[in-house]
Amino acid sequence: MRAVVKGIGHSVPSGVLTNKDLESMVSTTDEWIIQRTGIHERRVATAEETASTFAIESSQRALASAGLTGADIDMVIVATVTGDRIFPATACLVQDAIGAKHAGAFDVGAACAGFIYACSVATAMLESGQCKRALVVGVDVLTKTLDYTDRSTCILFGDGGGAVVLEAQEGTDRGVLKSLLLSDGAGAKHIGMDLGGSLHPVCKPHEGVTPYLYMAGAEVYRFAVNAMGDACVKLLELAGMTSSDIDLFVPHQANLRIIDSAAERLKLPDEKVFINVGKYGNTSGGSIPIGLSEAVEQGRLKPGMLVMTVGFGAGLVWGSNLIRW
Ligand code: UT7
Repeated sequence: MRAVVKGIGHSVPSGVLTNKDLESMVSTTDEWIIQRTGIHERRVATAEETASTFAIESSQRALASAGLTGADIDMVIVATVTGDRIFPATACLVQDAIGAKHAGAFDVGAACAGFIYACSVATAMLESGQCKRALVVGVDVLTKTLDYTDRSTCILFGDGGGAVVLEAQEGTDRGVLKSLLLSDGAGAKHIGMDLGGSLHPVCKPHEGVTPYLYMAGAEVYRFAVNAMGDACVKLLELAGMTSSDIDLFVPHQANLRIIDSAAERLKLPDEKVFINVGKYGNTSGGSIPIGLSEAVEQGRLKPGMLVMTVGFGAGLVWGSNLIRW
């Protein structure tokens, strides 16, 4: 039994925040941001737009591309750390909006690696026969958590999401072939958001606790450079493949330099590496499904191709999926 990709779609806000815009907000330059991150602009949600806005729209697009409706889905999984509310799960809002009346629904919290984790969980559920068709969404609206006076974080992130429909099929060589999920909670302090959890509930005084996302950029950078390459090399080994088998590499879009170092480690030529960090920045859980969806739109990802995805993020967590499209 395999979890085969039946449809895909993505959705991003229409609001654009350019590096030039940021120059008038914090002490930074277009040149610095491009040189250190590869980001030119990012999409930013309005006050009314939330994680479910992009989750629902990308789900509807994925269902349309699969030729299915919500009634055909029996599991909804949303990877997000910026859900509409702490609870209930954003997956339930998606389940209701698409009319998946007979589906289970839950969120997965693995930050920028969320889509990798959610795809792996969905695949296990499909392969075990627990469900027949799963809708897997990766979405985040991290701009709502940013301090736009902190130049070390506010330049990096953007909003958006993407969704895939996975279907259990027998007798096929297509589908999610293998996954690797890893974590190191000792690095939990390097990136996170404290306010609103059970440690620092919003309804209690919270002196000294920042309400914004915090990040030790250099630590996360050092971790990411090793983690991305390590996960890919290990997963290829587990699958009995080499990097020359990869047709398209769709890594988490956090920083062009991190993507370049992973691609270099795998000795992948430029045409096999999908990059859109320049126009979206880091969309966290949205980044990989948005990348996959755009790769399909651009004709760079076609049925039968071997695609490798890899992500890393707050936790620390990281992981990779090998998918025969
Ligand atoms: O999905 C996971 C999410 N997180 C990440 O992926 C983040 C990974 N880390 C990174 O991408 C990089 O560490 C950053 C892009 C955040 C920072 O780049 P860096 O090359 O590691 O810069 P740095 O933090 O070492 O800072 C170098 C200098 C510092 O100035 P001094 O101390 O050398 O005078 C910073 O204050 O650059 C300064 N700086 C800036 N200057 C202009 C930091 N942010 C900015 C800025 N504009 N926006």
